[in-house]
Amino acid sequence: MKVVIPGGTGQVGGVLERALTADGHEVVVLTRSPRGARQVYWDGATLGDWAAEVDGSDVVINLAGRSVSCRYTRENLEAMMSSRVESARVVGEAVAAAARPPAVWLQMSTATIYAHRFDAPNDEQTGVIGGDEQGVPGYWAYSVEIARNWEAALERAVTPHTRKLALRSAMVMSPDRGGVFDVLSRLARLGLGGPVAGGRQYVSWIHDRDFVRAVRFLIGRDDLTGPVNLAAPHPLTQRELMRDLRAAWRMPFGLPATRHMAELGAFALRSDTELLLKSRRVVPTRLTDAGFTFDHPRWRAAATDLATRRRLSR
Ligand SMILES: NC(=O)c1ccc[n+]([C@@H]2O[C@H](COP(=O)([O-])OP(=O)(O)OC[C@H]3O[C@@H](n4cnc5c(N)ncnc54)[C@H](OP(=O)(O)O)[C@@H]3O)[C@@H](O)[C@H]2O)c1
Repeated sequence: MKVVIPGGTGQVGGVLERALTADGHEVVVLTRSPRGARQVYWDGATLGDWAAEVDGSDVVINLAGRSVSCRYTRENLEAMMSSRVESARVVGEAVAAAARPPAVWLQMSTATIYAHRFDAPNDEQTGVIGGDEQGVPGYWAYSVEIARNWEAALERAVTPHTRKLALRSAMVMSPDRGGVFDVLSRLARLGLGGPVAGGRQYVSWIHDRDFVRAVRFLIGRDDLTGPVNLAAPHPLTQRELMRDLRAAWRMPFGLPATRHMAELGAFALRSDTELLLKSRRVVPTRLTDAGFTFDHPRWRAAATDLATRRRLSR
């Protein structure tokens, strides 16, 4: 197959590109800064020569979006929104204009679309979309609005010959440098991987190899459209997540952090505490109902596997 990955130069793009290339597919990445033969320029907002790559391709997987790990300044929030909504819109225009449109368009979305909650997991049918939660900072609603507008751009696209899926992905845990597993591992190994603000908040996650397997599965299943949660079936609390990560790195302790300390840490890391404090309890009901099984359903074993691969890659 020919697979086009707009925004494929980042962490998730690297995971997918390596795996799909190893499968024998032709992979083309659309990027604002092309390097090498299989990267093609686009600006993420307007139609251009790049649309010829989409025409005649089999699969498009749009990952483009300004990183959400940043200070939530007005400028950054606007870029987080526009880079997602505009890129999804223009990918839709390219698919619609194609003489030979791809069979399927997988549009990245996010598990952050669901409400901050502790009481029950969110799945695609019964899950609660966030934005109206009580007792959380008002600005958290903006991340949900980004996700809704991102998916709305996908829904609006008129692509009668192309199946559309929104990937409501949890954190993709891969051993790559700079990815979320790497960042959390560094904290754990420094002895800073304890509970944050009590650590009751849920963390949803997916092992990189299951992420790739789920993408392959969704490409192959002509009957599936719309939103799909990409998350391991057993989300756990932040306290438990860090406990198992420390065990994977054989670190005997992890200092706890208060909410205030988390604010300072997020400031130092040029990030935002929403990424640490929002309770993301998300389960993959559509995938499992469709017959997908996870190779890494439990975090403890997944963390051990990822830490081993991280050590070997050094
Ligand atoms: N990583 C995760 O665990 C995770 C979980 C759920 C959802 N997601 C979403 O999945 C997508 C990929 O994640 P990732 O971790 O691979 O992100 P990433 O490393 O930040 O890469 C995202 C890519 O988007 C492109 N991009 C950034 N700003 C852009 C803009 N203004 N216009 C057009 N393109 C822009 C960049 O490509 P160029 O600079 O090369 O153009 C970059 O390589 C993101 O949208 C992210 O929000 C990620």
